[in-house]
Amino acid sequence: MFTLITKRGGVTLYRKHLYVFDQHQPIPAVVRSYTHSDIPELLAIQQESFPPPFPSELWWNKEQLHNHITWFPEGALCMEINGQLAGSMTALLVDDAAREEDHPWEQITDSGYIRSHNPNGGTLYVVDISVRPAYRKLGIGKCLMQAMYDVVIHNGLTRMLGGGRMPGYHLHADSMTASQYLDAVVRGELKDPVITFLMRCGRTPVRVVEHYLEDEESCHYGALMEWNNPFKKNND
Ligand SMILES: CC(C)(COP(=O)(O)OP(=O)(O)OC[C@H]1O[C@@H](n2cnc3c(N)ncnc32)[C@H](O)[C@@H]1OP(=O)(O)O)[C@@H](O)C(=O)NCCC(=O)NCCS
Repeated sequence: MFTLITKRGGVTLYRKHLYVFDQHQPIPAVVRSYTHSDIPELLAIQQESFPPPFPSELWWNKEQLHNHITWFPEGALCMEINGQLAGSMTALLVDDAAREEDHPWEQITDSGYIRSHNPNGGTLYVVDISVRPAYRKLGIGKCLMQAMYDVVIHNGLTRMLGGGRMPGYHLHADSMTASQYLDAVVRGELKDPVITFLMRCGRTPVRVVEHYLEDEESCHYGALMEWNNPFKKNND
């Protein structure tokens, strides 16, 4: 069941009813745009999803969430299960040229405040995706990603782009470069909790970016990963 709801000002909000599966058990769920009343739960998702050594200064604050809802509500999505938020995903629009640049997360997302949002940008850039630990491996992250693909297509955008953490890299950093690690994950020789997840969602690697995010587990690298709008010609 899929409904597009247009609110005043021409902004299209998102609401989709579906089922996620806990083993064989279907669980009713809703993917929808998040709003101001969701902010306390969105803050909790961040705290649970990014435990130490991830720096707590990088968790969302109320001002950032207010900006997401205000500047680009189409890119502010969450999943609700039994009246509780299980996960969220946030994006902004940037120029297509962002794919060719080595940008840190702080620069392209305005440190998560998204004042850099360009309403005319052709690339939907992922600021964050997180699922509460108690709700992981149920397909929720994948549903959020697919909902954001809907946003790409609905808005006629070129692609989705975003720098994925590579939190398994620190376990191999003494024996391979970050690019070699990404290649090994892409070949299926290694699994990474985020990069493998992104690939299973349909994202493909562009390249590794040094100094992407303050993230010890990823040795501060990020893997730029894209998903091209299949209805656009320039995506070979
Ligand atoms: C990454 C994250 C969002 C995944 O969410 P999730 O709801 O557990 O993922 P899903 O259940 O939708 O998994 C989708 C696919 O990815 C795979 N996957 C999920 N987590 C994985 C992991 N840790 N290792 C390998 N594969 C994984 C699943 O097996 C599934 O594959 P399938 O569809 O082929 O069966 C979640 O682990 C998370 O919030 N992590 C912490 C926050 C974070 O680092 N976010 C990324 C910021 S760049």
